[in-house]
Amino acid sequence: MTKEVNVALIGTRFMGRAHSNAWSNVRKNFKLDIKPVLKVACGRKIDDHINEFAKQYGWEAVSDQWEDVVSDPNIDIVDISASNKSHFPIAMAAVKAGKHVICEKPLAMTAEEAKAMYLAAKEAGVVHMTAFNYRQVPALIYAKQLIDEGKIGDIRHFDAVYYQDWLINPDFPFVWRNDIVEAGSGAHGDMNAHLVDLARYLVGEVADVSGIQNIFVKERPVRDGSGTREVTADDATSFLCHFNNGALGSFISTRFATGRKNYLKFELFGSKGSLKFELERLNELQYFSTEDDQGDQGYRTILMTESVHPFISAWWPPGHIIGWEHTFIHEVKLFLDAIALKSDLSPSFYDGWRTQSVMDAVVKSSEKKTWVKVEA
Ligand SMILES: NC(=O)c1ccc[n+]([C@@H]2O[C@H](COP(=O)([O-])OP(=O)(O)OC[C@H]3O[C@@H](n4cnc5c(N)ncnc54)[C@H](O)[C@@H]3O)[C@@H](O)[C@H]2O)c1
Repeated sequence: MTKEVNVALIGTRFMGRAHSNAWSNVRKNFKLDIKPVLKVACGRKIDDHINEFAKQYGWEAVSDQWEDVVSDPNIDIVDISASNKSHFPIAMAAVKAGKHVICEKPLAMTAEEAKAMYLAAKEAGVVHMTAFNYRQVPALIYAKQLIDEGKIGDIRHFDAVYYQDWLINPDFPFVWRNDIVEAGSGAHGDMNAHLVDLARYLVGEVADVSGIQNIFVKERPVRDGSGTREVTADDATSFLCHFNNGALGSFISTRFATGRKNYLKFELFGSKGSLKFELERLNELQYFSTEDDQGDQGYRTILMTESVHPFISAWWPPGHIIGWEHTFIHEVKLFLDAIALKSDLSPSFYDGWRTQSVMDAVVKSSEKKTWVKVEA
């Protein structure tokens, strides 16, 4: 008989929608030994929004008290899709109550918090995941396979950018993402966190970093028209790094890339081959091999829709592409598999912590204007 697991979602806006869609759809496409039941959606207040949200996505109940939700003995899984400051207290309470926890990135406000979350989850013996959803893009899992098979050789460079432009208008109102107290950091935690996780996944651990950050618009109007508020979270953060294996890395994340909406791209160059990926072309991986593609052949574009490609056999016939929302469905599939099999998974809280250590080193480096070693 299929075992049911009761899910509690904390946070009902952007990520709340993406995660709800994943919980609702995962069993329609993947055969799973357990069935997620959308038990309760929790926000900051009970209002028309949360009631409508619950109705739309099929959550059985709503709440505005996360403490009650995570201590409810009927809940098996806590999904933290709320803003960054809430991740640590909610995750700590949830793992101590024996719940499996999937938590959005950045895992925590600091590496210290992230480490405590990892150790608490490990001690509790629960399944824990940091929701680095880009790891669940088939093209990127395939990229990792090519690297592990030795097709790329020794990696020399990993160059990544994540560009958005939603803050270019100085009149765009102040939101929690501009507040270091609520967000921990700005573009850095929001966007570099994804890039750093991908870099760790594909290249390996980061040894040291040299970073720069800026806040281009220092004050923004508050929504209620009562004045302005000082922006305290970075608008842009860039850094260089050495990886432990000798590769060099460069990273840029900015909310001031005029014209770019959600443009994530990286290029990876190795001794035997190269890879290029762009999120706007999520179904494609660019691959160059020194063995097969010399002369005038250049890069080849692998369309990642064959049934042999990661996750694709669950979806459509060759040539029928998938999208951004599928990464969240893949994510909860892995999470539910790990619960069913009582196994570890990656990206876990461990990965969330290691990424946060790189992030903290970048902030320290930009403040001190010097290279900083990543805490081991
Ligand atoms: N994986 C991705 O691609 C991706 C994309 C965007 C955001 N995120 C991450 O997801 C998280 C949420 O971001 P978002 O864009 O959904 O933000 P959002 O502002 O759209 O929504 C935040 C939600 O959190 C809720 N919330 C905050 N504190 C709470 C509390 N104490 N109790 C109950 N609810 C609380 C708010 O009510 C709101 O529903 C952030 O950590 C963000 O970094 C990840």
